[in-house]
Amino acid sequence: MSPRLLMFAGSSRTESFNKKLAANAASLAQAAGAGVTLIDLRDFPMPLYDGDLEDAQGMPDAAQRLRQLMIGHDGMLIASPENNASVSALLKNAIDWVSRPFDRQPGTVPYRGKVTALIAASTGAFAGVRGLPHLRQILSQLGAIVLPEQYHQPSAHTAFNAAGGLQDPLHRAGLEAVVKRLVEVSARLASYRETAAS
Ligand SMILES: Cc1cc2nc3c(=O)[nH]c(=O)nc-3n(C[C@H](O)[C@H](O)[C@H](O)COP(=O)(O)O)c2cc1C
Repeated sequence: MSPRLLMFAGSSRTESFNKKLAANAASLAQAAGAGVTLIDLRDFPMPLYDGDLEDAQGMPDAAQRLRQLMIGHDGMLIASPENNASVSALLKNAIDWVSRPFDRQPGTVPYRGKVTALIAASTGAFAGVRGLPHLRQILSQLGAIVLPEQYHQPSAHTAFNAAGGLQDPLHRAGLEAVVKRLVEVSARLASYRETAAS
């Protein structure tokens, strides 16, 4: 069974290293047999979460679109920049909006049971290792199945070639191992669900 995977980075920056890492992961996942939707959070602009705004206008259109995409996929991969040893405000804001109850459904619906891989790229030597545990906690709390395997790309400013590919075969292999695990586990779970539903 070919799993459907939603992939995005927690950065909107045009030259984002995390976007490049997510694009590398998308190619690897397609090669491993997954159907991939790679999106850019820049195309999902949302105001900073505000309860009064929510009461007045409901969930923003971009959050509704992201929510629908999550629901329509078996798993996710998130490339998360590390900001002050945690997740970016952009990513946390998007997760928060999507986690609001909608259409009489609980806010966990888009997250529950989604097999999720976390990766990070940073210009620093720590490669985002301090931020991913925070993201793991947030998504686990929402019911996602966050894989124990994760990939960190250090020195991201020198890691990619002009075409955006990872230059070092060891880096490519490290990312590939995580992506293959994501494809394998999400395929197994999707197939189990299909059988259970029939
Ligand atoms: C407010 C802020 C805080 C940051 N804190 C960290 C940090 O704690 N650890 C780290 O490795 N990099 C940190 N950085 C650097 C970013 O991770 C780096 O700029 C990264 O390239 C951003 O991701 P992007 O390339 O996907 O946009 C910080 C950057 C900003 C703007």
